[in-house]
Amino acid sequence: MKSRDNKYTVITGSSSGIGYATAIAFAKRDKNLIVITRRKEKLEALKQEIASINANVEVVIKVCDLSSATNAHSLFDDLENYFIETWINNAGFGHYGSVKDQDLDKIETMLHLNIEALTILSTRYVSKY
Ligand SMILES: NC(=O)c1ccc[n+]([C@@H]2O[C@H](COP(=O)([O-])OP(=O)(O)OC[C@H]3O[C@@H](n4cnc5c(N)ncnc54)[C@H](OP(=O)(O)O)[C@@H]3O)[C@@H](O)[C@H]2O)c1
Repeated sequence: MKSRDNKYTVITGSSSGIGYATAIAFAKRDKNLIVITRRKEKLEALKQEIASINANVEVVIKVCDLSSATNAHSLFDDLENYFIETWINNAGFGHYGSVKDQDLDKIETMLHLNIEALTILSTRYVSKY
């Protein structure tokens, strides 16, 4: 950590689906990982699976609800000392249905996660690197 010799790949939303599979694929390519979601136990399971596949890879777990802009900023601040070579904004969800039937709270959460956090993290990443 804290050196350009130790590079990390960040994957948000790595506790399931595409993010989980991406984490495994990067670990197989010897990439150290910083994995981020709300469910810590899923990330612990991912870390265990990666250890059995490639013991040379470091897996750093960060628990964060990215549907809050404040949390997104705090997360980026928290990663200050890691040299991040790749940042993958994967956390998100989709929602389908008639507009009249929508749960607006859920839609707002989706916008915060899929758009606001993604924009904050991408902009800060590009600005720093
Ligand atoms: N699968 C598809 O066909 C498809 C199509 C188009 C776009 N996408 C997009 O591709 C991405 C991955 O899809 P997927 O099918 O792999 O979805 P998934 O299995 O539901 O995984 C979503 C990931 O996002 C994390 N996440 C959700 N809400 C979060 C929050 N508030 N804060 C932090 N992390 C959060 C989840 O972890 P926790 O629940 O542990 O927080 C989970 O790891 C999503 O952005 C999705 O919208 C998928």
